[in-house]
Amino acid sequence: MNEGQSRGEGRVGLSLSIPAIISMLLVLAVVGIYLAAGEALVDALSLILQVGGISLAASIAFLCLIGVLYAGWLAYQRGRTAQEARWAAAAQRRLLEAQALREERDAQVLVVTAKAGEQILIRDTGHGQWRQAHLDMRLYANGAATDPSPLEIAVWREFNRPASSLPVPALPIGQPSFELPTLVRWSEVVPGQRGDLNNLILGLRLNEQGQLSPLNISLYELFHTIAAASSGWGKSAFLSAILAQLATCPDPVELILIDQQFHGLAAFKECDRLRYPILQQPGEILGALHEVYAEAIQYRAALLRRYDADNLAEYNQKADHFLPPVIVAVDEASALLADRDIGQVLKKQAWELRKFGVYQMLALTSAKGTVIDTDHRQQFSSKVQLHANDKSQARLLLDTVEALDFPPGRAVVDVPGLSPAIVQTPYIPKRELRSLLKPAGQSPASPAMEPELIKPTDKQQVALNLWDRGERSPSVIAFQVYNDAGGRQIELVNKTLRKFGRI
Ligand SMILES: Nc1ncnc2c1ncn2[C@@H]1O[C@H](COP(=O)(O)OP(=O)(O)OP(=O)(O)O)[C@@H](O)[C@H]1O
Ligand SMILES: [Mg+2]
Repeated sequence: MNEGQSRGEGRVGLSLSIPAIISMLLVLAVVGIYLAAGEALVDALSLILQVGGISLAASIAFLCLIGVLYAGWLAYQRGRTAQEARWAAAAQRRLLEAQALREERDAQVLVVTAKAGEQILIRDTGHGQWRQAHLDMRLYANGAATDPSPLEIAVWREFNRPASSLPVPALPIGQPSFELPTLVRWSEVVPGQRGDLNNLILGLRLNEQGQLSPLNISLYELFHTIAAASSGWGKSAFLSAILAQLATCPDPVELILIDQQFHGLAAFKECDRLRYPILQQPGEILGALHEVYAEAIQYRAALLRRYDADNLAEYNQKADHFLPPVIVAVDEASALLADRDIGQVLKKQAWELRKFGVYQMLALTSAKGTVIDTDHRQQFSSKVQLHANDKSQARLLLDTVEALDFPPGRAVVDVPGLSPAIVQTPYIPKRELRSLLKPAGQSPASPAMEPELIKPTDKQQVALNLWDRGERSPSVIAFQVYNDAGGRQIELVNKTLRKFGRI
């Protein structure tokens, strides 16, 4: 037992001594190194610690920065997706609203069929008044083009004689003519009073055979358009004639109208295709233009990319839903362009947004460099020069001295793909325009049903009096009224009797 104990104590003593010796050696080595290297070692250690600390802090800061940037990017992406979704929803809503309005309007239309050459009269419920179903009976019956018969022309004249203080036009479209008419009624050249964006009518010209023929072009080719003229020669009327076609065409179109004086384009006030109410104040104009720009650059650009389309026309051919063109029309643009911010944004839009289908139409009194920046003007591929008061003005846009002698509404038109031509632009009086654009639900109105317009003329009154006194023979009435009882006169009597509800 004692021996065993003493052996065991001997092992314990040996195992304790080895670590103690190593520790002592280490302490001695450290003390030795400290004595030998001293402060240099401490400095080196503290330097290592400092560098390590700084690197660690920099890494943490860098990681934090990456995290913040990533979070910001995610937020931006989320915002952008939400914005695109809002734009898409707004565009879809506008499209559906326009479609609904059109369908509502169409639902109120009564379709009547008639033989070519017959005039249809409609009696408006509640008004007890008669009006023509279609204003231009010479060209259309049931929506199909027909040749006017002499009777139709005569009846057309007769119908229109009391209807307007404007002279009744005689437009021998397709017939030889020596000069352009001084008045081309919009309703006469726009079939069915519904425009067609693929076939906008800019006016009537004389073709190579000396015949009157329409000058037409698709909106996608017309692009940006400048109409210039001295004051009072038809700038606003020209814009209105084009915009009225866009406001009535079957395809949806968005109109952004800027008219600071609320004068030249005011008749479009109730047009259901206006994206904003007619813009007048610089603040609201800028706001709208910025919104259109952002929407085109992000939303429209992405759509076009998706279909690999270079421009709106191509997109609308490829895509299964229609993306409406946007027209930014500015009346009295000379004054507006003087506002630096608005001028800049219009210039930028003209440059960048054309392919996305945002087209500008400007009415200017002068196309001078001091009015419209040369870079901006060069974006306009379509130019319309109406009357100019002096030579320098006449030469500025299209170098055309003929413009010095033009009557109102006459213009030199230079548009892509066609040689420059002199045309008489279509004219639509404001009252007629308002009536044409009246929203669905309001009582229909046409120039022919205005109270003063549906009064019988003196001759018609005589015919009606004879009928009311019991005379039932149209030929007898015709003879008494017109001193002649030919087919034309009898037809006139019959029309009068029908127009005023006697037969
Ligand atoms: N196409 C046209 N055919 C016949 N007459 C026209 C035509 N266009 C305009 N006019 C006549 O010219 C008048 C002035 O037209 P409009 O107001 O469009 O001119 P403007 O150049 O816009 O004038 P302003 O500089 O004062 O705004 C019209 O009231 C009309 O009588
Ligand atoms: Mg005007």
